[in-house]
Amino acid sequence: MESTVAIVTGGSRGIGARIVHRLARAGHHVLLVYSRGDAEARATAERCAAETARVVPFKCHIAAPDGPELVFGQASRLGSTTVLVNNAGITGRISDLEAADEDDIQQVIDINLTATIMLCRQAMRLWLDAGDERPRCIVNVSSLAAKTGAPGEYVWYAAAKAGVDALTIGLAPEAAPYGIRVNAVSPGTTTTTIHAKAGRPNRAAEIGARSPMGRPATPDEIAAAVEWLVSSEASYVNGAILDVTGGAR
Ligand SMILES: NC(=O)c1ccc[n+]([C@@H]2O[C@H](COP(=O)([O-])OP(=O)(O)OC[C@H]3O[C@@H](n4cnc5c(N)ncnc54)[C@H](OP(=O)(O)O)[C@@H]3O)[C@@H](O)[C@H]2O)c1
Repeated sequence: MESTVAIVTGGSRGIGARIVHRLARAGHHVLLVYSRGDAEARATAERCAAETARVVPFKCHIAAPDGPELVFGQASRLGSTTVLVNNAGITGRISDLEAADEDDIQQVIDINLTATIMLCRQAMRLWLDAGDERPRCIVNVSSLAAKTGAPGEYVWYAAAKAGVDALTIGLAPEAAPYGIRVNAVSPGTTTTTIHAKAGRPNRAAEIGARSPMGRPATPDEIAAAVEWLVSSEASYVNGAILDVTGGAR
C-alpha cells in the first residue's frame, strides 16, 4: 500500500507527539511541524524510528504569512498529503482579561485560530486540484474551553477555540463533496507542559482531581481520538466536535 502524508502541527511534544506516533504507526509518513524546540522535535521523530513510515521534523512558525505554503510544500516532498491535523496551540499566561498583554492575546489568536484557518484554506486549494479519488481529512484540535469560556484563566484562548469549532462545522459541508472530511477533537484538561507555560504547572492535576473521572487525560487518550477520526473507521463522521473530556463540561 502506498504511504500517504499526514501533516501534524505542534507535533514535537504533548498531544501532538502522540498523534505523530499513532499516525506513523498507522502507515502515514508524517511531517512534524514545530516552531522552536529542535531537540524535542528530533526526539519525537527518533521515537518513531521503528515504524516503516517516515517522520520528518519541519521547523516553521505556522502563523507566519508564508507558513501554510511552506508546510504543504515541504509535505509534498514526502508524497501525497491526505491528512492535516491542526494541533499546535498556546494559551498565553493565565490571568483575567483586563490584565492580559495585547501581544500575547494576538499571538494566541494567530496560532490557534488564524493559522488553523489558513492551513485549512491551503489544504482546500491543493486538494480540490489534486484530481484523484483519495479520501482526505482535516482534524482540528479544539478545547473544552470553547464551551466553558475559561473565565479567570484565558478567555481569549477560549474565544479562539470557539472559532476553531465554528470553522470545523462550517467547512465540513463545504469540503464533503470533494471527499474531504473535517472534524475536531475537543480535549479536556490533559497532562502536558502547556500548563507550566501558562504559569500553573500543577493545573492539570488540580483540575483533573475535580473532574468526573478524578484525573486529567493523558496525551495519548486525546491522540487516540484523532487517530480514529483520521481512520477509515470514521468514514461517515464529518463536522463532528468530539469531546474527549472524561465527562467534564
Ligand atoms: N493540554 C491541555 O490540557 C489541552 C486541553 C485542551 C486543548 N488542548 C489543545 O491541544 C493542542 C496541543 O496542546 P498541548 O497541551 O500538547 O501543548 P504543548 O505541549 O505546549 O505543545 C504545543 C505544540 O505546538 C507547537 N507550536 C507552538 N506554537 C507554534 C507555532 N507558532 N508554529 C508551529 N508550532 C507551534 C509547539 O512546538 P514549539 O514550541 O517548538 O513551537 C508544540 O509542539 C493545543 O491546540 C491545545 O490548545 C490542550
